[in-house]
Amino acid sequence: MVIGVVKESKEFESRVALSPEVVKLLVKKEFNVVIESGAGESSFFSNQEYLDAGAKIHTREEALAADLILKVNLVTLEEVAHMKEKSACMSFMYAYQHPEVVQALNKKSITSFSMDAVPRISRAQKMDALSSQANLAGYKAVLLGANRLGKIFPLMMTASGTITPARVLIFGAGVAGLQAIATAKRLGAVVECTDVRPETKEQVESLGGRFLSVEGVEGVQTEGGYAKEVSAEYLEKQQALIREKIKEADLVITTALVMGKKSPILVTEDMVKSMKTGSVIVDMAVASGGNCAISEANATVVKYGVTLIGESNLPSLLPVNASQLYATNISTLVLHLASKDGFSLDLEDEITKGVLITHQGEVVHEFTKKLLNT
Ligand code: NAI
Repeated sequence: MVIGVVKESKEFESRVALSPEVVKLLVKKEFNVVIESGAGESSFFSNQEYLDAGAKIHTREEALAADLILKVNLVTLEEVAHMKEKSACMSFMYAYQHPEVVQALNKKSITSFSMDAVPRISRAQKMDALSSQANLAGYKAVLLGANRLGKIFPLMMTASGTITPARVLIFGAGVAGLQAIATAKRLGAVVECTDVRPETKEQVESLGGRFLSVEGVEGVQTEGGYAKEVSAEYLEKQQALIREKIKEADLVITTALVMGKKSPILVTEDMVKSMKTGSVIVDMAVASGGNCAISEANATVVKYGVTLIGESNLPSLLPVNASQLYATNISTLVLHLASKDGFSLDLEDEITKGVLITHQGEVVHEFTKKLLNT
C-alpha cells in the first residue's frame, strides 16, 4: 500500500500530516510512503529527514497518485481530480460543510476517513487529533493573550513596588480550557473558570483554578464526551455570574463548544464594553461562530479598548509539535484500518463506523448524511 502526503494548500496552514519519526514507523510496517517535495518545510521537517526515515520524495502529482492520501485539511477539488479511482483519503474533513468535495469523492468512489469524527472513547484516545490539537491551542491562546496584555501574569514584589497577579477568566473546561488553565497558572495568574458540566469542577481545582458554579440550576449532561445544550434558565444565570466576573478580568479565553451546534454566545457586546481598557479576549471558538459576539475570525481587533483575538488556527502556530502529535493520531488510525496489503474495514467497529464518511460511491456516515440530506 502506498501512502501519499502532500503540502497543505490551505492559507496559514503550517502543519503536515506525517512527521519523519512516524514515517519511520510506517516504513517498518512495510508501507511505502511518498512525500511531496517540501511538504514538511513549514513544520521544519526537511526532505532529507523524510528520506532518512525511508520515504520517497516526489512531485505533488506523484504523491496524489498514492492508494491513501494523508492530509491535515480536507482534500481540495483539484487534489481529488489527481487522485486515483477507488483510492482513499484521511484528514480533518468536516464533510457536512463541503458537499461539493463529498460529491467529487463519491464520483471517483474514493473512500474517505475523517479525523474530526474519531469517537471520544478510551480505545481511540491515541487517534484523537481534535484533542491533541486543542491541547496545544489552549497553551498558545494564553501566550497570545499574555503578549497583547500591558501587564505581567505573576505577583511580583520589588523594591519599586508590588505588582498584583493578572486575572484570567476561562470559559469551558474541556481539552483546550484545561490546558489554558494550566498554562496561565504556570505563568502566575489568578485563574477562574466556568463550565456547564459540574464534573469539571474537580479538574479545574486540581490545576489550581477556581471554579465558578452557576447556583440553583442543573448543569448539563454529556454525550460521547461532549456537552449537550443547556437550558435557557441556566444560560441566563450563567450570564449574570459572568457579567460581574468579566469586569475584573485581564484576559478572557473562551472555549465553549456544543458538538454539532453553533458556539454559544457567552460574551456579549455589553460585557466587552464593561471590561477594563487594555484587557484581552481570545475567542477560540471563532471558527464555529465564536463565543464572543464581536470577535472576528482570523483578525485581531480592538473594540471599546479591549483587544479581541480571533485566531482560528492556533495549532498551526506550533507546527512542530502539532504535526508530531497529528502524525501519531493519523498513523494510529491508519494502522487500525489497514496493513501493508490494504484496508480491511470492519463496518461494525465503533471507530471505523465513526470515521468512515464516503465508501463505494456513497456517504455512509449517518451524522454527515443527515446534515447533507443525502
Ligand atoms: P471540548 O468539547 O473538550 O470542551 C468544550 C467545553 O465547553 C466543554 O467542557 C463544555 O462543557 C463547555 N461548554 C459548553 N457550553 C458551555 C457554556 N455555555 N459555558 C461554559 N462552558 C461550556 O472542546 P475543546 O477540544 O476544548 O475545544 C474548545 C474550542 O476550541 C472549540 O470551539 C474548538 O473548535 C476550539 N478550538 C480552536 C482552535 C483554534 O485554533 N482557534 C484549535 C482547537 C480547538
